[in-house]
Amino acid sequence: MPDRVKGKVAIVFGAGSSGPGWGNGKAAAVLYAREGAAVACVDLHAKAAEETAGIIAGEGGRTIAVAADVTDPTSVEKAVETTSEALGTISILHNNVGVTHMGGPADLSEEQFQLSVDLNLGSVYRTTKAVIPQMVEAGEGAIVNISSLAGIRWTGYPYFAYYATKAAVNQATVAIAIQYASRGIRANCVMPGLIDTPLIYKQISSQYASVEEMVAARSAAVPGGKMGDAWDIAHAALFLASDEAKFINGVCLPVDGGQSCTVAGLR
Ligand SMILES: NC(=O)c1ccc[n+]([C@@H]2O[C@H](COP(=O)([O-])OP(=O)(O)OC[C@H]3O[C@@H](n4cnc5c(N)ncnc54)[C@H](O)[C@@H]3O)[C@@H](O)[C@H]2O)c1
Repeated sequence: MPDRVKGKVAIVFGAGSSGPGWGNGKAAAVLYAREGAAVACVDLHAKAAEETAGIIAGEGGRTIAVAADVTDPTSVEKAVETTSEALGTISILHNNVGVTHMGGPADLSEEQFQLSVDLNLGSVYRTTKAVIPQMVEAGEGAIVNISSLAGIRWTGYPYFAYYATKAAVNQATVAIAIQYASRGIRANCVMPGLIDTPLIYKQISSQYASVEEMVAARSAAVPGGKMGDAWDIAHAALFLASDEAKFINGVCLPVDGGQSCTVAGLR
């Protein structure tokens, strides 16, 4: 099904990857472009944004790379301005930036807690604030926020701030979806389950004796016996962003191989 978002302009915050291979944001940016969108690849690290934009350009897509920090409102506004000037009115906003700080309330520093709020939830606030006026003016837009299964379930890791902020992303998405529904704008979440992306080797592996143990344990927790990959998340996002999902609004879609249907520990 080619050209599923043809003619649209997408802005992906967190379009780089925190390591070699395919992260969720990088795969989504490339997939939007493969399906016909012009894509702004935004990342804190210019090189990461440029790498993704380079892949898109190499496949003949229309793209720009933008360095911006989602915790800084001025930086976000500038990225949005640069995108609309270069590519046109933004019709797809994709929020992928997220951080996992391990620890319960007694373990987390004030700084780690604030950073979790600022990155995971604040990013959705700032990017939506910057993009939504042009969507309202155009009378159309689709927002896809990457939340987590941790927004609705205890996943086994002691990351208090992550649970709390991802739950907030879910309800923030509902709030946007309903307030702006009459203006032609939809907002939905993808809730990834256990996904094999570069991020887990940086932010999750500390919970295990070895990387091999982490991969085995995470795979075993999924009903199908295997973690998902970045393309599983990207394809769900593509569907939600496309007109195929025109009657889907305010949904938080688990992409987890069915894990959220199970009772933990009884497999
Ligand atoms: N991998 C999993 O198992 C899993 C599970 C559930 C949810 N998620 C969610 O998926 C998302 C991340 O997926 P990914 O694989 O693309 O991660 P990633 O770490 O590979 O990519 C995130 C990108 O965001 C960028 N970034 C970080 N801070 C930024 C900032 N302040 N401003 C702009 N960009 C910034 C990073 O440089 C990086 O390139 C997160 O929201 C995460 O919570 C992942």
